[in-house]
Amino acid sequence: MQAPRNAALPGSPDAASSAQPAGTGLSVDLGGLRMANPVTVASGTFGYGREYAEYIDLRRLGAVTTKGVCLDPCPGNPQPRIAETRGGMLNAIGLQGPGAREFVRTALPFLHGLGVPAICNVWGKSEGEYAEVCRILSDAPGASAIELNVSCPNVHAGGAAFGTDPAVLSRVVSGARAATKLPLFVKLAPNVPDIAVFARAARDAGADALSVCNTIPAMKIDVEARRPFLANVQGGLSGAAIHPVAVRLVWQAVRATELPVLAMGGVFTAEDALEFLCAGATAVAVGTANFVDPETPLRVLDGIADYLRRHGMRSVSEIALPRA
Ligand SMILES: Cc1cc2nc3c(=O)[nH]c(=O)nc-3n(C[C@H](O)[C@H](O)[C@H](O)COP(=O)(O)O)c2cc1C
Repeated sequence: MQAPRNAALPGSPDAASSAQPAGTGLSVDLGGLRMANPVTVASGTFGYGREYAEYIDLRRLGAVTTKGVCLDPCPGNPQPRIAETRGGMLNAIGLQGPGAREFVRTALPFLHGLGVPAICNVWGKSEGEYAEVCRILSDAPGASAIELNVSCPNVHAGGAAFGTDPAVLSRVVSGARAATKLPLFVKLAPNVPDIAVFARAARDAGADALSVCNTIPAMKIDVEARRPFLANVQGGLSGAAIHPVAVRLVWQAVRATELPVLAMGGVFTAEDALEFLCAGATAVAVGTANFVDPETPLRVLDGIADYLRRHGMRSVSEIALPRA
């Protein structure tokens, strides 16, 4: 087997160098989560990690971000719930999952055994449910950080997303903060007039980092059948089509607070990830690209290591453009 191309850099995921302090070489500190390199996968596009273990060496990832879990088992939405679009995909999976306790019992031990940090994505149907799931995860071996998905519908507010009202967002994050000491990331919704307002609300409520961004609400119509393509009517747009929107949002979120940002949205190449790092992101997540090629996160990682070498940089943090 060939040695990884980034093996020579401090912080690369080979055993000898991963002991480097966060912030040197490829290693980063994402809101208290130390990652051997800045590349993870986006929630919902990589299962619970195990599903991809036969395709890539998971230990080379800075972390695995797991598919969203809520308190109880959730069947998800009826079919069809995925559609291809030009330059992207639409999904309305409906956050299918086994519930938090089953996730802790059956999915987390695998990542824990591998020694790969797990960023556990959490959603809730109510503000209290977020806190409850955070409490369950806090006691679970293998949970390294929590990422709150606030783009799901609030059943007590007519289905409006938690993350599109700063006051509601603030309450969800405060409740989660009180329930866990794990690094707490808040995944911001892209469909807001000013993401800076939401970034500051998340920070003030106790977030340790921001994830930017979730899918963009969108729709496709089957003109021959004369009905919306997705059974759920609307879905979330992801993939290459949203990348420039995500770069703009990451740029703004980075400049709104001092919190580190985990950037995602249409990363297919190292250059896409480097745009996010130039915008000031601390780490990046590969999402939809995993469905095309599960090796994408490793190619992105190798490309970042190569960029550091070509530009004579000693750490990922040197990639960021000035904030002013
Ligand atoms: C099939 C699918 C399922 C997803 N499930 C979740 C989820 O459970 N929780 C979440 O916060 N985001 C979820 N997302 C959003 C992604 O994590 C990511 O934020 C978004 O797709 C943008 O990145 P990308 O363009 O690289 O895919 C999902 C995306 C897709 C395509």
